[in-house]
Order: sequence, then C-alpha cells, then structure tokens
Amino acid sequence: MGQSWTPGRVNLIGEWIDFNGGWVLPAALPLGVTIEVAQTGGVRDIVGSAQFEGVADADLASRASGHWADYVFGALQCARQQGWLSGGGRVELKSDIPAGAGVSSSAAVTLGVLRALAPADTEPTDLAVLAREIENRFIGVPCGIMDQMAVAHTRPGEALALDTRTLSFQTIDLPPGWRFAVLHSGVQRELADGRYKARRTACLEAAAQLELEWLCDATDLSALGPEHQAIARHVTGENQRAIEAIRALQAGEAETFGRLMTASHISLRDDFDVSTPEIDRLMFDLLAHGAPGARITGAGFGGCIVILKPAGAGQDWFQPVLDKHPAARLVCEIGS
Ligand code: GLA
Repeated sequence: MGQSWTPGRVNLIGEWIDFNGGWVLPAALPLGVTIEVAQTGGVRDIVGSAQFEGVADADLASRASGHWADYVFGALQCARQQGWLSGGGRVELKSDIPAGAGVSSSAAVTLGVLRALAPADTEPTDLAVLAREIENRFIGVPCGIMDQMAVAHTRPGEALALDTRTLSFQTIDLPPGWRFAVLHSGVQRELADGRYKARRTACLEAAAQLELEWLCDATDLSALGPEHQAIARHVTGENQRAIEAIRALQAGEAETFGRLMTASHISLRDDFDVSTPEIDRLMFDLLAHGAPGARITGAGFGGCIVILKPAGAGQDWFQPVLDKHPAARLVCEIGS
C-alpha cells in the first residue's frame, strides 16, 4: 500500500540544544531504512525485518514494551489516528543504519512508516512533529525535534540548518571537497535508560531558575548552582558554536568548522558530561593524526563520533588510528 526510504542522520554540531531553543546542523547519511506497509484490516499489527529474527505482532492499541518493533507499532497507531490506515498494518522493514549508535535509526523508522502511509502532499515538517510525538508519548523518550526534522527534510549530501524554536530551516549542500566520517566507538547506548531524561530535566530546571523559556537565551549564569551552571554553559556556548558553524559551512571554511566541532566535544565532555573515556581517546587520537575536527554525535553516552577529514585524505586515512582502537569501526562517510 505504501513504501518509503528514509536516511539516518549524523549531527555535525548543535548538541543537546534542540529542546533549549537552539540551532542545530544535522546531515543525512547514505544509510537508511526502507519501509513497505500493507493494510491488512486485521486486529493486529505485524512487523517483519531482515535485521531481526522472526516477526513481531501487537494488538492495535498496544503499549511500548521495550521491543525494537515499538517504533513501528507507535507509528501505525499514529497513522490510524490521522485516518491514513484502517485496521491492522503489516510492515516490512530493511535498515542499514546501526541501532543505538546516535545516528537516528529510530527516528528514521518512525518517520518512514508515517511517510509510507501519509497522503503524498503531507508537509515533511508535519510528519516530523508527529514522529517526535510518538517518541515522546509512546516510547517515552522526551527528545527534541532535531532527528525527525533531519530525516524528514534532508537527502544524502545535504545538511539541515534548523532553528528548533521556530522550525524554520535551510538545507545546505556540503561544500565540495569536504568529507566527514562517522565512526562507531564500539560503546553501545540506550536512550530510554533515563540518562537522556535526566539531562533534559536539568536543562529545564536551569531555565526555570533563570525565569527563561529557552535556556539558550541565558546570558548571566551566576544565579545557578555549579551543576546547572555547567549545563547552561554548554547549552549557551553550543548555540553560539552552531550558529558560527553554519556560517563557516556556507563559507566553505573547513578549519573554522573543525575547530568548532572539537570545542563542542570538549564542552560535551567537561560541562555536559555525556562522553566516555573510550570516545575521548579515539577522538583525540584522530585529532593527533591530523583531523581538523572531531566530536561525539547524537545524545552521547557512547555510540558514534563524527570527524572532518583533512582535505584530500583517502578512504583508509584513519586506519592507523582504528588499529589502536579495535572496537571502533567506520559506519559511513558523507560529502565529496
Ligand atoms: C537525541 C535526541 C535529539 C537531541 C540529541 C542531542 O538524538 O533525539 O532530540 O536532543 O539527542 O542533541
């Protein structure tokens, strides 16, 4: 009845600010998820996937149970509420986006199911808003809107400069000659484990203490205690870095862009505390090897890093570093 392909995303900069009123700059991966949906009209939803053994099924009003198919069940329920599906659906899912790695495999699945079922003239932003609601209400992760907007609006080779406050955005082609590599650290992570929620709560508390709607607007942090001050320092600094990085991307200034990426990582490590020792070692070895910039990407606590490669560096440029980090592996590259 419907089919879609939706990419994963890597966030180039603007981390943990998409619910704080900030600017973000994610880019589409060449990896994605293909979804095929058929309307069965039955009393159960059914999901099959080449990646996972067997077939999962649930009743039409099921709740999330921690199963990988939850994202599909949530999206099918949402599609029924929108009037895009009547009765049960059967979904076939094929994905080459690594799960639990900070590259939005879940947003791609949720958005992909909605996209396969929505009328062709549905605004991608409307799909993104629905996909985020599924994640917030059905799955129970209080995420921002960056991932859903990124996978809804970008194609491989493009980045999305997004104002998460207004949802106004611009797609930007990656400059010729820029190449980013996405590397998996080998450290797996889970967002539903409470750490995402705890960081988000700390941001909202800091904004409330400063009597601000958006923490990104903070200027004087002195009224905050040390922990909230560190969180707010990351959020306000990251927004400035993201705005500067969007300008540098548009101007083709790779050195500036790389410097901002690394500054973002240091802030996520020292002030926001979402890095891990393995990731720090991998990242700083890549910088020592000559990368103009590198950072952890996505929510953190493990998962992937993104690096800007030196101009003209070949496919196996980082092999000497990977040899020192046997758990790490290349996920994909983006750019030309
Ligand atoms: C996850 C969330 C996003 C965003 C990032 C951190 O990917 O889904 O909304 O908050 O973490 O930047």
